[in-house]
Amino acid sequence: MRSHYCGQLNETLVDQTVTLCGWVHRRRDHGGVIFLDMRDRDGIAQVVVDPDTAEAFANADSSRSEYVLRIVGRVRLRPEGTQNPKMPTGLIEVLASDVEVLNTAATPPFQLDEHGKVGEEVRLKHRYIDLRRPEMIEKLRLRSRISHSVRAFLEGQGFLDIETPVLTRATPEGARDYLVPSRTHPGSFFALPQSPQLFKQLLMVSGFDRYYQIAKCFRDEDLRADRQPEFTQIDLEASFVTEDDIMGITEAMVRQLFQEVLDVELPVFPRMSWEEAMSRYGSDKPDLRIPLILTDVDDLMAQVDFKVFSGPATADDGRVAALKVPGGAGLSRKAIDDYTRFVGIYGAKGLAWIKVNERAKGLEGLQSPIVKFMENVIEPLLDRIGAEDGDLIFFGADKARVVNESLGALRVKLGEDLNLYTRDWAPLWVVDFPMFEDDGSARMQALHHPFTAPACDVETLKANPVVALSRAYDMVLNGTELGGGSIRIHDRAMQSAVLEVLGIGEAEAHEKFGFLLDALQYGAPPHGGLAFGLDRLVMLMSGAKTIREVIAFPKTQSAACLMTEAPSEVSAEQLKELNIRLRQKAKAESPSE
Ligand code: AMO
Ligand code: AMP
Repeated sequence: MRSHYCGQLNETLVDQTVTLCGWVHRRRDHGGVIFLDMRDRDGIAQVVVDPDTAEAFANADSSRSEYVLRIVGRVRLRPEGTQNPKMPTGLIEVLASDVEVLNTAATPPFQLDEHGKVGEEVRLKHRYIDLRRPEMIEKLRLRSRISHSVRAFLEGQGFLDIETPVLTRATPEGARDYLVPSRTHPGSFFALPQSPQLFKQLLMVSGFDRYYQIAKCFRDEDLRADRQPEFTQIDLEASFVTEDDIMGITEAMVRQLFQEVLDVELPVFPRMSWEEAMSRYGSDKPDLRIPLILTDVDDLMAQVDFKVFSGPATADDGRVAALKVPGGAGLSRKAIDDYTRFVGIYGAKGLAWIKVNERAKGLEGLQSPIVKFMENVIEPLLDRIGAEDGDLIFFGADKARVVNESLGALRVKLGEDLNLYTRDWAPLWVVDFPMFEDDGSARMQALHHPFTAPACDVETLKANPVVALSRAYDMVLNGTELGGGSIRIHDRAMQSAVLEVLGIGEAEAHEKFGFLLDALQYGAPPHGGLAFGLDRLVMLMSGAKTIREVIAFPKTQSAACLMTEAPSEVSAEQLKELNIRLRQKAKAESPSE
């Protein structure tokens, strides 16, 4: 029906007749002449309809915003003075000879260029209209180019695209499962996969050697800006490989992707141990664009007469750390109070600080609510932190987890607020993760997942699991975990040892993933892999603030789709067929009570 997309028109087409199909972005009546800004997925072109072409004029006159039109016309240069160099098509316009209304449109719930005035809810409810916005089209187009580049790269490296089931058993990635009731097996449920983890390992046992898939994953967990209940992974696995092989291939993939799609040359990714990341950045996904670092001061604070600090400094699970903000002495009391409230979100009970006004003056030159308690250690303290005139130093003292989370988040917030970024892109690998974490519950938890190989042998692992490191690696970009993976356990004895440490007995293991344990007995090759969050990758590459912006039809923070109104109630017959009876809703839940 069309000869050109609106956005493709330019001066080279002057005097040619073109046919456009698209939506009325804006319609202006200029005393007898009608201007239509026609929009399609490629952009906007200005169409002029004058009264000489009576039928075309009548149709243009009756058109409103978002009507669907087909326009035939001649491309011409815009008159001097009316050109718009900001628009890609701003030098030309189309003089219409024919305007056909293909469809009318009800008044849209919001004007596309006024989307900021309505809440995200309205946009999500009418997502098909929101997706007409050029910025949204641009993001999804970028997403398509990213998937294409990734596929081409992996195919080139001999990876085979193999689909794995969506109706399956629970997979152990640590979130809650989405369950699907089975009609043919009353009382039984499928689980939607949290990742293709077990299937990709089985494909390695089968000998496929290199697998990839752009796979949908489902996790019923608390949502945030970078988390959706249904998201997409670029998932891959390979056999007869080491960590260096997987990191090498995936780093090359991401480097080529940035080159092709954004024309950005990423640096070689540095590697940082998990321990260093936690100690210097308070995070296992440090944002290295921000030059602030944490300094450990436990040994010094152990000597001060201030319980709030000396307590955590001497406790096994405690930590006292300093965060220096160069030139931060200018921050107001109100700003410091705001930051104190901010770290409170992460459980910090306070935020001590020292302003270094003039170091040469000793204590006199410092301004602080706590310095009176630490006169005995102040010089070595300031030396270790590298304090200079004009600096502000924050302190956190608590359980190590609280200090890391609160100062880690404060570091990122200061980076944002004070615009401290030193570069656009800061990728890195975080390696040498602990195998297990003790999260206070009765059982130890696998830091990655229970199929990740430890970096030690079975005896060493069993003797002291808390200190065991794993062969896992995460790719981090600008403070976001883009992807994670590991070399897997391919040996039945090691798998049993790890499950034992996790407190998963033989019977439970067999019930949950017996098929994998069985498979390991039939000649499983050494193997490993990694999965990227595609949505997060697109979010970072497009500069979007949330992954909702780069998913065509996302869910809300409460895991619902406002447009389709899913999840929804189902009929009594359907429930009966599935052998499911709903419990009476508790009275308290009823909104009318
Ligand atoms: P992991 O659980 O680390 O590893 O997930 C891999 C990557 O997927 C992305 N991601 C998410 N993105 C959006 N919303 C979510 N709810 C969400 N959860 C995870 C992240 C993360 O880095 N099977 C292993 C991979 C492996 O070992 O090969 C796995 O799923 O970017
Ligand atoms: P207080 O003695 O409670 O008035 O606290 C003195 C200073 O120490 C204040 O600036 C508090 O914000 C700070 N502070 C209190 N508890 C902590 C903590 N756990 N970590 C860091 N600073 C703290």
